[in-house]
Amino acid sequence: MPATDLDRFVAFRDLAPEDLADLSWSGGDTHLTEVAGQLGRSYAGEVVLLVGALPNGRLVAMGGLDLARQCGVGLLWMLAVHETLQSLGIGRRLIGALEQRARDRGCRTARLTVEHDNPRALALYRRLGYAEVGSTIESWPVAGGRTYVTACAVLERPL
Ligand SMILES: CC(C)(COP(=O)(O)OP(=O)(O)OC[C@H]1O[C@@H](n2cnc3c(N)ncnc32)[C@H](O)[C@@H]1OP(=O)(O)O)[C@@H](O)C(=O)NCCC(=O)NCCS
Repeated sequence: MPATDLDRFVAFRDLAPEDLADLSWSGGDTHLTEVAGQLGRSYAGEVVLLVGALPNGRLVAMGGLDLARQCGVGLLWMLAVHETLQSLGIGRRLIGALEQRARDRGCRTARLTVEHDNPRALALYRRLGYAEVGSTIESWPVAGGRTYVTACAVLERPL
């Protein structure tokens, strides 16, 4: 199968609680606890959590869209594609699916952040039309009860 066709086999749908068991590739226990904690917000319509599934049902992509940060702006976050299936166009399609959900909910702008030391992801976002609008410091819990702190660029594109 040509690499250019593989991404078309991935179908995107809303994350369900039972999907957490097939997302261990996307991060450790702390990350999965964070994803599980966002499920309640997804039921309330504050966030959209999407997973990308192969025809056999196995999950190979996930990403979130936060609609509650700023009126008219959809924040894409937690973007991840299974390590063995990166660079095949799945990430591009995942972002497209999240952007469509943002449009459906009336957003005029898509925003995301990328760590200063992730040039490959930055290059992908730029190719998809995102432009840097600022920088920020982000932090999230990691194993051992510690907090990871990192510098990020903020990027936006019109929808
Ligand atoms: C960043 C990430 C989500 C992008 O997903 P992806 O599926 O790898 O992205 P895409 O395949 O759509 O595009 C990325 C690359 O594939 C290439 N590509 C896209 N479609 C392709 C195709 N059909 N055939 C071959 N290559 C293709 C792109 O040119 C790009 O090239 P690069 O590898 O030199 O960067 C994924 O790589 C990932 O999970 N990375 C680790 C976690 C992470 O960094 N998350 C983002 C935090 S901000």
